[in-house]
Amino acid sequence: QYAQAQDDFEVMQNAAKFFAHQLRKHKNSGEVITYLKNRGLSGEVVKDFQIGYAPPEWDGVLNALGKDSKTRQQLVDLKLVNKNDNGRHYDFFRDRVMFPIRDRRGRVVGFGGRIFGQDKDDQGPKYLNSPETRVFHKGRELYGFYEAKQAHRTLPYVVIVEGYMDVVALAQAGIKEAVASLGTATTTDQLQMLFRATSKVICCYDGDRAGREAAWRALENALPLLTDGVELSFLFLPDGEDPDTVVRDEGADAFRERLQSSQSFTDYFFAHLQEGVNISSDTGKSALLKQAKPLIERVASQFYRDTMLDRLAQLLRRERSQLDSHFNKPQQSK
Ligand code: GTP
Ligand code: MN
Ligand code: MN
Ligand code: MN
Ligand code: MN
Repeated sequence: QYAQAQDDFEVMQNAAKFFAHQLRKHKNSGEVITYLKNRGLSGEVVKDFQIGYAPPEWDGVLNALGKDSKTRQQLVDLKLVNKNDNGRHYDFFRDRVMFPIRDRRGRVVGFGGRIFGQDKDDQGPKYLNSPETRVFHKGRELYGFYEAKQAHRTLPYVVIVEGYMDVVALAQAGIKEAVASLGTATTTDQLQMLFRATSKVICCYDGDRAGREAAWRALENALPLLTDGVELSFLFLPDGEDPDTVVRDEGADAFRERLQSSQSFTDYFFAHLQEGVNISSDTGKSALLKQAKPLIERVASQFYRDTMLDRLAQLLRRERSQLDSHFNKPQQSK
C-alpha cells in the first residue's frame, strides 16, 4: 500500500505534536518542565501555544516522522532535518524548547527553538528559527497572532513584542493580545496584517538599544499604513527589561497601565528626531526639517500629516504657511 504524500502542513503539525509529546515523555522531561515552571508558565499556556521539546538525539524527528525516503526529503525541505555531505540525515532542532509558529489560519509553518541543554557553549545561538521554506516566510508571519485571535472575537488592540517568551509570558498573565515579529524588524507586511484585525497597535520592544532601534524601524515601516482612525503607540520599558520580566515583576494590571500610558507615534516621532539635535539653533532646525520632511510625506492620513506639520512648525518657530512652502514644492529631481 502506497502512503499518500503528506501535506506540508500536516508534517509540520506532526512535528509540533512530536515535540509536545517529548516534553511529557522524554527522559529530560522533568528538567524541561522545571525550566518552563521557573519561567512562570502553567501547563495550560504551554498547551495553548503547543510548546514542546526537541530531544538532544540526532534522530528524534527523523525516526518519528521520516520513515520513507519521500517523507525524509520532505522533512529536509521543511528544514526539520538536515542532510550532510555524506548523505546522512539528522535533526535540525536538538535539545531545545520548541515554539511552533502558526500562520493566521492556525497551521504550523515554522518553529523557534530556545537553547536548553547544560553545556550551552557549543550549542549555537540562543534561539534557532526555522529558515525560510515553501510554507514559512518570516517577514509575513507573526508569532502568537493566531492564538490572540483565538482568544478574542475581535481584537481590541495588539501589542507587538520581540520574543516568543514575551508573547507567552503576557498570555500567561492574561494579556492575550501580544504577537512577536520573529526577531526581525517588524515589517510593513506584518503591520498590515495587524491593522486588518485591529485599529490599535502598541509596539513594546526590549528596553535595550536593539529594542529602541526596532521601535524606530517599526514606526518607519508603519507610516504608509497610518490612515485615519489607526492608532499606533510605543511603550518603552526600563533598561534591561523585556515584557516577560516586567509582567512577571509587576503583574498584569501594572503592565496594562504601562500600555495605557504608551507614547503616541506623533509624540515618539518628534521626541526621537530631536535626540542629539539642538533645535534652538538654525542648523538644528534645518536638520530637523530635513529628517522629518520625507517621513511625514509618507504618512497615509492627511489628518495625521497635518497634525505633524503643525508640530513641526511649532518646533521650527515658523508659521504653518511658511513651512508648507517646503512641502508643496513640485517634486525635484534628485
Ligand atoms: P529569553 O532569554 O528566553 O527571555 O529570550 P528573549 O526573547 O528575551 O531574547 P532576546 O531579547 O535576546 O531576543 C528576542 C527575540 O529575538 C527572540 O525571541 C528571538 O526571536 C530572537 N533571537 C534572540 N536571540 C537570537 C539568536 O541567537 N538567533 C536568532 N535567529 N534569533 C534570536
Ligand atoms: Mn519567502
Ligand atoms: Mn533584547
Ligand atoms: Mn528579550
Ligand atoms: Mn526575555
